[in-house]
Parts: sequence; structure tokens; C-alpha cells
Amino acid sequence: MSAEKGKNKFQGIFMLTDRLSYQALEAHYQQIHKRHLRDLFKEDAGRGERMSAEAAGLYLDYSKNRITGETLRLLTALADDCGLRERIDAMFRGDKINVTEGRSALHTALRAPRGRCLAAAAVPDAGKPVHKVLSRMAKLANQLRAGEWLGFTGKPICNIVNIGIGGSDLGPVMAYEALRRYSKRKLKFRFVSNVDGTDFKEATRGLSPEKTLFIVASKTFETLETLTNAESAKEWTLKKLRNPAAVARHFVAVSTAEKKVAAFGIDTKNMFGFWDWVGGRYSMDSAIGLSTMIAIGVKHFSEMLDGFHAMDEHFRTTPWERNLPVLMGLLTVWYNNFFGAQTVAVLPYDQYLKRFPAYLQQLTMESTGKGVTLDGEAIATYQTGPIFWGEPGTNGQHSFYQLIHQGTKLVPCDFIGFRKTLNPLGRHHDLLMANVFAQSKALAFGQVAPAGEPYRNFEGNRPSNTILAEKLTPAILGALVALYEHSVFTQGVVWNINPFDQYGVQLGKVLAEELLPSLSKNARLPKDDSSTVALLRKYRG
Ligand code: F6P
Repeated sequence: MSAEKGKNKFQGIFMLTDRLSYQALEAHYQQIHKRHLRDLFKEDAGRGERMSAEAAGLYLDYSKNRITGETLRLLTALADDCGLRERIDAMFRGDKINVTEGRSALHTALRAPRGRCLAAAAVPDAGKPVHKVLSRMAKLANQLRAGEWLGFTGKPICNIVNIGIGGSDLGPVMAYEALRRYSKRKLKFRFVSNVDGTDFKEATRGLSPEKTLFIVASKTFETLETLTNAESAKEWTLKKLRNPAAVARHFVAVSTAEKKVAAFGIDTKNMFGFWDWVGGRYSMDSAIGLSTMIAIGVKHFSEMLDGFHAMDEHFRTTPWERNLPVLMGLLTVWYNNFFGAQTVAVLPYDQYLKRFPAYLQQLTMESTGKGVTLDGEAIATYQTGPIFWGEPGTNGQHSFYQLIHQGTKLVPCDFIGFRKTLNPLGRHHDLLMANVFAQSKALAFGQVAPAGEPYRNFEGNRPSNTILAEKLTPAILGALVALYEHSVFTQGVVWNINPFDQYGVQLGKVLAEELLPSLSKNARLPKDDSSTVALLRKYRG
């Protein structure tokens, strides 16, 4: 590869693996990868406290990672070398860093306080439209929460059904579940995402169309699943209400595509907009969060935005060695690229966070599942995004933790816990949290098996982060999501990829549309590969 071809605006040299800072880490890995966490802790009594950082209400203990002070020095040098400083500034400035789509990635503008100058060169007054939409959302949310938004037959709306998929579903569902304790219990919330008719049928089961409002959430307003579900919702509503004018009282849209919303038949007065500089998986605090605002109210929603903003500011201004998202992003790189770890397990010890791992799967894997650099070079010499997965503790302990403790794979873990529970009940919370501390301890330090019983051996040296917060509030949820958003950004900078596009989802969509006609019994079978043809034949019966 020529030097010129390998250059881009942000990185001065060729591939990541050609960087001296990367090669220094490879050499360092050879020196320390066999060191055991038991020894690292023995040698340094202050490690547990020293290897911690705190911001926006989150305390990060990263001491149980297979690192030394030198590892951190080398990782932060790599971040510098890859231009992390310049890239962060470019993102916050509104530069079109999503180069393949020619867009800014300005989700940080969604949570900036009113009147704050974002110095966004590419998107000059981003703050103004953001707050205008937030005010319109607040008006609707307040009306619904007060029982003042009436359906077509004059009955107050008390069921809210969000129709969307991907970023237009996972954020709203996750936030609703996470903040359910703060939600208005008189209102019922349901979420429909899958094109499988079961999802729609089950979500609307038992609901009265007279009292139901659909939020059709789609950035592009062309997503097949969402439009199909929205059509079914229209039919379901009109079957009972029998007048197309009812749509105006029972449907609102959240989208960037005004014309398509109008073409679908939703009055654009009932549309809440956002902008192309908000990626789908970064959109839960745009109008896509309308269901969240209705559920938890305007005040709590704005506290959630404050939590996001606090983490944004921390990320933007804090030196790498105390910067939570940078530390977590670089640790992900450390295990992914040097230890060959394939996955990261996210293990929230809070039942309200049960959908958090699913949310993170889109955020992380749609962002870092890329195989070409920003220069368009195929990546052949290093790995990009790991697989994120997880379940709440303690449930996971009785399921897949066996593999994390004794399997042959290295699975770095993120434990998430809270000092206080939102639902005090006897000793439950102490029991829950004792398990967090016990698991990270067992993983790190292990236990030697009694003689003759090797199956009881816990070799330990299995790394984890522990994130602790006071309690699960809207602000803490915002900070937690922003922490992972910026960790992903940091990883993307090191891997020199675009974390803001998602071309990998296109091919399947196109092929599904092409194949659809062939599923009808009397249509001609396509001249396709023999597996596809055999499957089509079997399906058609
Ligand atoms: O399938 C990928 C994707 O484009 C996601 O990135 C996005 O969040 C989701 O589809 C839904 O898109 P939309 O909000 O435009 O319906």
C-alpha cells in the first residue's frame, strides 16, 4: 500500500498495525500477558483505588484488568497517535465525520442545555431546533399524562404503542424498562418492532383502539417492518373507529422524512422531527424518545438529558487517564486486538436494566462491525468490533457464567451495580450486590482445586470492569448510555473505521424484497442457488 493511499484526514500513516505505538503494545503484551491479577494486586496494595475513575455519578473500577501502569501509558499513547483528540473535537464541532454518508454525528447536541453554543461549524444553530422539538414533545407528553389528549370518540388515551425497529425501538424499550419506576403507571406502554405479525397481535391484545395512540418512529420512514406494522395499526384502529379522520387523534410520527410521513396519512402537525446528523442508534434522546418522555414526564426526561450531557462534557474535557469512556474503549481494544478476545459481556445487576445488553448490541455492533478503514482499505491485519452480549445478574450466574469462569475463552466483563435499590425488600439488595463483588473477585483471583479434582480449578486472571452508581435515576441512565457511546467512538478512532454508518444491513433487505414475490404459491420459482430454491419450495408446500 502506498503511503498516500493509507493517509486520511485524521491518521497520518497507513494501517493501525503499522503504527509504532501499536507495535509497542504488541511487544508489551508479550511481556505481561502471563502475569496474574493475583500478583498484580499483591505487588501494589493501592491498585484497587488507584485504578478507578469517577464522572457524572459513575464510579469505574478498572483495577481487575490485565494491565499495568505501562499498559495504560501505551494505550493512551496509541489513542493520541490515532488522533483521538482531533476526532473528538471534530465530532463535537459538527464536522461531517460520518464520511460515507456525508453527515455530522451530533447526537451530543441533542442533550446540550438550552442556549449553549455548540460551536458546530457544519450545523450552526443545532440547539434551536432541538429545543423547539423538545417543547412540542413536552406539550404532547403533558397532555397525555393529564388525560387531556382525547381519542376520536372523546375517550382519554391511556395506551401508547411505539412502532419502530433498531434505533427507533431498542432505545425507547430499554429506557422505558430502565426507568419504569419513574413512569406514570396509569398509562400502558407497548412496543412493536418485528415484522412477525405475532409482535403486533400480542402488543395490541386487550387494548381498545378508542384509547390507543400509536407513535410511528422511523428516521427514514421507509423501513419495511415499521411501515408494515404501521399499516396494520391503521387497519386495527379504523376497523373500530370507521373514519379516516380518526388517524389524526390516534397516530403521531417521529421522523426526519416529512413528505413520507404525510404520504402515509399522518398529519405533519403530529410529526416530531429530528435530523440526519442523529444516527438511529444514537437517537434515544431525540424525538425518538417521545414514548420515554410520555412515560417518565418532562422533568425526568430532562434529567436524563443532563446525565448524557455530563458524560459528554467529561469525555470532551478530561485527560485520557481519568476519562471513563476513553479508558473503557481502550480496554476493549486491549482485549480485542492483543488477547484475541471475541466478546464483551455486559452484566447489569439491576432487573430494570434487563434490555440494556440488547440496546448495547446495536450501539456497539452496528457501529464497530466494520471491515474497511475510513480510507476504504480492507482491514486484514487486525480485528475490529467484538460481540457484545449479556443478561442481568444474578440470572446469568445460573446460566452462562460457567463458561466465563472455567471455559477456554477469555470474556472480559462489565459489571454494573447500584448502592441503593429502587425497591427495598428485606436483604435482597445486599444479596444482589454481594454477588457482583463476589463474581468479579472469583473471575480475577480464582481458586486452586483440591488435589485430584481439576474440574474444581478456577484459574482466575479473567478481567472485568465494575461500574457503580448511587441508584438508577434518569440522569444515571443518560450517563451510562453516553459512557458506552463514547467508548464505542474511542474504539472506532483506534480501528480507523466509521462507527456511524451501517451498510452491512442493506444486502439482506434488498434480497428479501427480491424474494418476496417468489413466496406466493403460484409464482415462478427464481433461478437461484439450489439451497434457496429448495427452501422456497419447502415453504410454499
Ligand atoms: O437496519 C438498520 C437500521 O437502519 C438502523 O440503523 C436503524 O436504527 C433501523 O434500521 C431503523 O431505521 P428507521 O428509524 O429509519 O426506521
